[in-house]
Amino acid sequence: MRNIIELLIKYAIKAPSVHNTQPWRFAYRNNVIKVFPDYNRRLPMADQDDHALFISLGCAVENLVIAANHFGYRADIDYFPPLENNECIRIRLTEGRVDLDNRLFEAIDNRQSTRNRYKGRKIPGEDMKALQNAAHYEGVRTLVFSGQQEILPLIEFIKEASFLRFSNNSFKHELIYWIRFNTREAKQTGDGLYTASMGFPSVPSWLGRLIMRLIKPSGEAKRVEKLVKSSSAMMVFIAESNQKKNWINLGRAFERVALTATVLNIKHAHLNMPCEEIEVRKKLAAYLGLPDNQQPLLLIRLGYSEFMPYPFRRSIHRVTYEDKSPQTIELQESGIESTK
Ligand SMILES: Cc1cc2nc3c(=O)[nH]c(=O)nc-3n(C[C@H](O)[C@H](O)[C@H](O)COP(=O)(O)O)c2cc1C
Repeated sequence: MRNIIELLIKYAIKAPSVHNTQPWRFAYRNNVIKVFPDYNRRLPMADQDDHALFISLGCAVENLVIAANHFGYRADIDYFPPLENNECIRIRLTEGRVDLDNRLFEAIDNRQSTRNRYKGRKIPGEDMKALQNAAHYEGVRTLVFSGQQEILPLIEFIKEASFLRFSNNSFKHELIYWIRFNTREAKQTGDGLYTASMGFPSVPSWLGRLIMRLIKPSGEAKRVEKLVKSSSAMMVFIAESNQKKNWINLGRAFERVALTATVLNIKHAHLNMPCEEIEVRKKLAAYLGLPDNQQPLLLIRLGYSEFMPYPFRRSIHRVTYEDKSPQTIELQESGIESTK
């Protein structure tokens, strides 16, 4: 079981995460894997309420579930079981499969956030439908904007939020901390935003930091506008109420969409600034006609382009440990079996 669990965690950590912070830790024992948030990797400026951290955990959980199915295991999930000492998502594996398209598993290795300019070509209706169907998770809604006419009104929110972000020195400081300006640095840390994946040249770190400090908010807003205009469609992910379980489900929904897009050879990238700047998020929610309790938390663009270099991940050994607590309470709690 240990080998299969380690294999599943290897697929889990290929998931996307905000700033590639990989804010997760895994513990396992017998047939149970626990996924913990790693608050040491939170982003106080870009993600003040930790919603993006929990969305990232949801992405990792979804990869794990899809990989488990591929290797012949069904994964049952408990969100924040009350008797656990630390908040976690608990996954129990049993032999058996659910009816899941195996191409999603194959897409885990190929998926990436593709941040280059897209080709503007229309996405066929049945593919758009497949993407929307992939997002059906409890507590999550999506809205789709196809073609220039529907996309254009969103640009103002994106530009405003981008301008605010890049006018904020604390935000910039945090962003720079997570950028890996060359391959050596990216490989060494195994995390962070790898400049090659963003279409920027490799430079020494000191030079990269200097360039970042010189970026003008208006220049960045213009760069982002061009990316949006090249896109075929945009998709907003909405949490039906602002709580951790919904954030995790939103991450699962997003990852399922990202993998489905990969299967269909459609690229995606985030343009999350309007969801992160609270005042802009409110304006966006009003534009979308959302009731007060519903929050737009992820905004992605979709389209066609070439793959870019892949970023790195920390190794499984840096994020995983065997659960050596004297007795696991998880299965007793559910009354299913004892695991001495
Ligand atoms: C919750 C969340 C928020 C993200 N926000 C942004 C964003 O605003 N801009 C961006 O370029 N990428 C964003 N990303 C993408 C991550 O930076 C990306 O997943 C990470 O760098 C790893 O790269 P990969 O997805 O290609 O594996 C986000 C990802 C997640 C899960």
